[in-house]
Formats: sequence, C-alpha cells, structure tokens
Amino acid sequence: MPKILDIITNPDPILRKISKEIDSKNIKSRGFQSFCKDLILTMQKKDGIGLASPQIGKNIRIIVISQKDGPLCMINPKITKKSWAKEIAEEGCLSVPFTFGDVKRHKKINCLYLDLGGEKKRLKAEGLLSRIIQHEIDHLNGILFIDKADNIKEEEK
Ligand code: CO
Repeated sequence: MPKILDIITNPDPILRKISKEIDSKNIKSRGFQSFCKDLILTMQKKDGIGLASPQIGKNIRIIVISQKDGPLCMINPKITKKSWAKEIAEEGCLSVPFTFGDVKRHKKINCLYLDLGGEKKRLKAEGLLSRIIQHEIDHLNGILFIDKADNIKEEEK
C-alpha cells in the first residue's frame, strides 16, 4: 500500500542540494516503483499540484504532477526547449507553507523524461503545466520559487 510521506520545509538544507539522476536500470525495481507511488499519493493527499522528490527528503530526480487524466511521473526530466515568451503568475509550494509570490516562467517548454516503464518520452507543455514542470525541476536543482518571486506574501498561520 502506498504511504503518505512527510514534506520537508524551508530552510531544510535538503531542499538546496542538487538531486542525482536515476539509473534507468533501477526504474523497474519494486522499491523504486513503490517510492513513486508514495510520492504521487503524498502529492494528492496534501492537495499539491506537483511534488519533487527532494521535498520528501530524497535528492533524486523525480517529479510528479497532478493532471485531469491522472498523475504524471517524470523521471530525470529535462527541458530541451524554452519559449522566448514568459508569463507571470502566482505560485506557492508545499515546502514553503503559507507563502505566495509572483514568478516569471517560460510560457512554453519542450521536455524529455523517462516514464515509470523506463520509456523515453517527449512532452510539449504550456500554461499551467509548463509552469509546474519548471517549478518542480527547480526543486531538483536546489531552487525554491521564493528565490525568483516578486511580491511575496505570507498568510497568517
Ligand atoms: Co514546490
């Protein structure tokens, strides 16, 4: 049974490390598959629209994203192309609770990643999906949205 994992919050140093790539040979292992399921369940139960592995204390390159047609798990995600055009929208993060801020991101991106079957996939994203992927890949590089945000607001706890 998948389990809900604890979310690590700022200023934990784990959130600032560069996460390691996953060896594609390990993707099909039971341990790895169940870890990805835990990550997805944790995102869903904490009402996140995206979650990156360092946020639950593992510095490995996996992100999960909640989508209408089910969760998307991206292993070793890479942005291969970014639109010149950017847009600004408000973001928050489970690791920076009660905090919101405006972040400028590329409007459209192309990505390359491995899926849970270890298959290489390409994805073109725009709008909210593009934003979430950029936010989550930042986590894999030790970057938090507050590093980039303007008009940071903190809600009463
Ligand atoms: Co985040």
